Amino acid sequence: MPGLDRLHGRVVERILGALVELKGPEAVTTLGGDLGRLHHVLDVEDVGPLRDWVIESLRGDLLALAVQVGRWALGWTHDFHVDDYLILRINFPYALARYAKASAENPGIGRVSPAVRPIAAARRVKNPVYDPSAYHRDHPPPAWAHGPHLDSWTGHSRDGFNIWWAIGDVPPEAGMVLYPQLTDAPLACDRRSLYLAAGHPLPPPTFAPLAAGEMLVFDPEILHGTHLNVTDRTRVAISLRLNTARPTFDPASFYAREFWRTAGDIEAGRLDRIIHLKREDHLASDAPDPVRAPTLRAAIAPTQVDGALVWITLDQPLALGERIAVALNDDRRLMLVRAQDGLRALDGACPHYGLDLMDGGVEAGRLYCPGCAIGFDMATGRSSCADLVLRTYGVRETADGVVIALNEAGPTAPR
Ligand SMILES: [Fe+2]
Repeated sequence: MPGLDRLHGRVVERILGALVELKGPEAVTTLGGDLGRLHHVLDVEDVGPLRDWVIESLRGDLLALAVQVGRWALGWTHDFHVDDYLILRINFPYALARYAKASAENPGIGRVSPAVRPIAAARRVKNPVYDPSAYHRDHPPPAWAHGPHLDSWTGHSRDGFNIWWAIGDVPPEAGMVLYPQLTDAPLACDRRSLYLAAGHPLPPPTFAPLAAGEMLVFDPEILHGTHLNVTDRTRVAISLRLNTARPTFDPASFYAREFWRTAGDIEAGRLDRIIHLKREDHLASDAPDPVRAPTLRAAIAPTQVDGALVWITLDQPLALGERIAVALNDDRRLMLVRAQDGLRALDGACPHYGLDLMDGGVEAGRLYCPGCAIGFDMATGRSSCADLVLRTYGVRETADGVVIALNEAGPTAPR
């Protein structure tokens, strides 16, 4: 796409310029041009001001880029809509972000143009059901990861396209994850988190690593989320959004992206023109998504607990790849899995948000969290993040089931 590399260079330049303003010129020298090291020179609390500075100084160029994607990548020759809400996503490594202050900004928050901010603030709705901090288990916002969702659940039109532009390199374990196998599957939103309700089995995630400057353009009605950044690098990306026609909003969503521009206005340089599409006047007429509260998947109870030994009766031995949840008396849930190399007993909840791993996909000996997409080795319980590990337990098959030894670790290497 013409001019893409040049604009990428300007974004990096503006980030470095903001860094000089916030931290002084020596910060840029220390960074050495490697955005993945931003967390070495920038405090997580400074990310918000940096994003403001970069987005506002390049708003016109970024909107023009969005139009170009519509024209060049999607082949749209008609006039279409471009979201005024722009996001510069700067995600510090989880190992650092988890210690940020609770007041620090969520990297997924964007900015509308300054001219419409007072209207946007006045239109903000507080929904008593929506409670992101409960889902995110009191992690500070910089350590949040988006669980799987459709964008229409979060105030977008169903006929949009997302542009996800890597400003720095985006490794698989810090990028988008998608579940294209579930396109057209009935999916229920948990209105407390606006993510997929628990109880839906997921396939393994499809990762979307990108080199700096590369762009993913995708239909955000494909189930997608972001991988918790468990790398040791800061992830920097920009999100933009297009809509082929005038956007309409899911009536089940309390929130809507209301401020838009047209491709024609942007191409004509009319950057002072912003269209306000009030949610209540632009509701989609199709049936809203099914709403469902999250449910834990069925678990079996032990037939006997003898100290640290948990006895479980099974009608038949687990087949290869089969999983069952075991509910202990103290609310803990374990998971039994017949892996390629033997039976395993592991914690049944992801140590990050506590989500039920029974919903997660399995591939090549790895079990993926259905929320943050971290992959756990089923033999060892380890992930690529030293802070996020599943405990494994000793397990042995008996004549009519299994016995789990809670005070023994499972095998640390495949048997
Ligand atoms: Fe999304």
